[in-house]
Amino acid sequence: MRDQTPAGSQRSSGREILLLLLLLLAVLFSGGDNQEAYQGPTSFHVMQISSFANSTWTLNRGSGWLEDLQIHGWDSDTGTAIFLKPWSKGNLSDEEVTELEEIFRVYFFGITREVQERISDLQLEYPFEFQGIAGCELQSGGAIGSFLKGAIKGLDLLSINTTCWPAPSGGSRAQKVCELIANYKGIFDTIEHLLYKTCPRFLLSVLEAGKVDLQRQVKPKAWLSSGPSPEPGHVPLVCHVSGFYPKPVWVMWMRGEQEQQGTQQGDFLPNADGTWNLRATLDVAAGEAAGLACRVKHSSLGGQDLVLYWGHSIPIGLVILAIIVPALIFLLGLALWFWRRRSYQDI
Ligand SMILES: *[C@@H]1O[C@H](CO)[C@@H](O)[C@H](O)[C@H]1NC(C)=O
Ligand SMILES: *[C@@H]1O[C@H](CO)[C@@H](O)[C@H](O)[C@H]1NC(C)=O
Ligand SMILES: *[C@@H]1O[C@H](CO)[C@@H](O)[C@H](O)[C@H]1NC(C)=O
Repeated sequence: MRDQTPAGSQRSSGREILLLLLLLLAVLFSGGDNQEAYQGPTSFHVMQISSFANSTWTLNRGSGWLEDLQIHGWDSDTGTAIFLKPWSKGNLSDEEVTELEEIFRVYFFGITREVQERISDLQLEYPFEFQGIAGCELQSGGAIGSFLKGAIKGLDLLSINTTCWPAPSGGSRAQKVCELIANYKGIFDTIEHLLYKTCPRFLLSVLEAGKVDLQRQVKPKAWLSSGPSPEPGHVPLVCHVSGFYPKPVWVMWMRGEQEQQGTQQGDFLPNADGTWNLRATLDVAAGEAAGLACRVKHSSLGGQDLVLYWGHSIPIGLVILAIIVPALIFLLGLALWFWRRRSYQDI
């Protein structure tokens, strides 16, 4: 009778090698840490921009935002809200939406009339713009804070929570506006209700309703170009990063592992689908561009940074892939061959 034990143990050590190699592969090509913090927006605000052109003509624009994503518009002709996303209503009922639209209609009508009637009292001259912003935001620890602020001609005028607070930059005009608001019975009750009850409830429900959209991950595309030379002998290297979501991103020109401190980030530019574009530029002397690379970190990349090399050098990732993968396959073949040979010898 043949003793099965040695062959069995050979087979299992062969399996161990296989397992080890697979494990190695998995470690090499895994994305690293998968624990990612919540990446979506954490605040909601409505914004009002009222342009007072002359004594008879005022344009009121209203909008609703989750941070920099607009989810509501305002039709000032009909005095109704425009819902820009299928989930923009959160869990507000149709009755609640109608009620809120009525509040905003009355508010826009009221503020327009009051301001027009008190132009000289408030020491204002046409044309000017009034801006208002109100909303609430999730704070660390789960609390929700609320805010309401107004500005005139770009200067802070007042803030309101349970009472009206004139802003220092608002001067006596701010005092007057706060006194004016105090004349309206019940206005603070309404504001308090909207800021501290309606807004937090809406914020939580709209973040939930829009979760699939708001927490999606869209990978950036990246490419390099050179900009127009600002001075002879210098080249601005431009790293274009486009179409990513969410907004937080890290883009840096590198030489090896060295971050290039001269890297200048442009503005975040939005796409129609809610994704973002960003450029990072580095000015270098003409001879010094070789060996530079643009490195992009983004939550959608799962720890696998995008690295683009200036010039024609082959990305280091490809080099590693080209060396390690064949080497692993070779080792795997070798291990299998040994194992089979030993198994045959055993028989
Ligand atoms: C008021 O401003 C609007 C918009 O700029 C203009 O069309 C209108 O003619 C102006 N009216 C008067 C009385 O100046
Ligand atoms: C209201 O705002 C004022 C001034 O910003 C602040 O001092 C006060 O604590 C706030 N009160 C509440 C209840 O949030
Ligand atoms: C809407 O959502 C909020 C926050 O999740 C919740 O507190 C509230 O009970 C919900 N209201 C309705 C009518 O479902």
